[in-house]
Amino acid sequence: MRIVDLRSDTVTNPTPKMREAMGEAVVGDDGFGEDPTVQRLEEVAAAMLGKEAGLFLPSGTMANLVAVLVHTRPGDAVVCDENAHLYKLTLGGTSTFAGVTFLPQRTDDLGRLDPAGVESALNLGPHFLSSTLVVVENTNNLAGGTILTPEETKQVAGVAKKYGTPVHLDGARIFNSAVAQDIDVKELTRDCDTVMFCLSKGLCCPLGSVLAGPRDFVEKARKARKMLGGGMRQVGVIAACGIIALEEGNGMITGLAEDHKKARRLAEGLVRIMGHDAVDIDTVQTNIVCFDFSMGGRDCKEFVQALAERGVRTIHLYGSRGRMVTHHDVSDGDIDYALEVIESVVAEAV
Ligand SMILES: Cc1ncc(COP(=O)(O)O)c(C=O)c1O
Repeated sequence: MRIVDLRSDTVTNPTPKMREAMGEAVVGDDGFGEDPTVQRLEEVAAAMLGKEAGLFLPSGTMANLVAVLVHTRPGDAVVCDENAHLYKLTLGGTSTFAGVTFLPQRTDDLGRLDPAGVESALNLGPHFLSSTLVVVENTNNLAGGTILTPEETKQVAGVAKKYGTPVHLDGARIFNSAVAQDIDVKELTRDCDTVMFCLSKGLCCPLGSVLAGPRDFVEKARKARKMLGGGMRQVGVIAACGIIALEEGNGMITGLAEDHKKARRLAEGLVRIMGHDAVDIDTVQTNIVCFDFSMGGRDCKEFVQALAERGVRTIHLYGSRGRMVTHHDVSDGDIDYALEVIESVVAEAV
């Protein structure tokens, strides 16, 4: 059976060049700071993001948690989008391990925080929570891969600055955002104190994220990573893939534009098949397509299941909402095939 896997961009496989680089990587014990390939990846990534230093971590979840551990103390509150990954999608890990609570903010349909709302969460009297960190997510996963512009980031960061509160950017897919806006990624990271991005999503690496920021922050983050058991050893074999993703003529990054075109094609097909209520086309700005399905007594979970039985893998998020993500390992032909399957499943539902 033909399989088209649209569950996430994390399903991408390392490219042949990455596999070659893995074989050739010079490695050492990174626990002793002796892996030259890891060091190179950290330097390359930090320079691209316009930050002093970088730290390689096994996952985006751990990188965000480490950022929270360094920026906050137990009992503090984190101000973020009510659908932020580190709030909604870490199974309670951020509060369990960092001891923080949240002041979640409602965003608009495009996942953008309201600077006035952020200000009121920071401007609390002495009997309220201490909000000591603001988190922005770019692209915004649950809003449908929507982008934040440099100006929008600056507005939120400006409010945080007024209250002396640091801003952490959850930039799991920050390069998707930069490519969609045709700008240097530094324009999106400039106003944020710290940033993390994932190598393991659209950039095809098998695992890994980089957390970047001021040098003293990164040194503290290194200790927090160790505390969480995230220290790694001869991990240059993996970091080598990251260097390919970032450096290879900017190849993996500029290639994200193709993923965005595929998402658009998919979204337009969904609208044609399921109608305008199924997809808010304005939110399809990068490689994520969130959709709503509820037809003929069939709910979204059943729809996702029916598609999977015919080889088209998508995910159910909650209620009537599901998600499809385009990536390096699906072709235009795969998208067309997925749309044919979707059309047949919808025809049976109505
Ligand atoms: C916005 C965002 N942040 C963080 C993460 C976590 O990354 P990881 O899966 O590498 O832990 C994800 C994963 O999907 C994400 O979408």
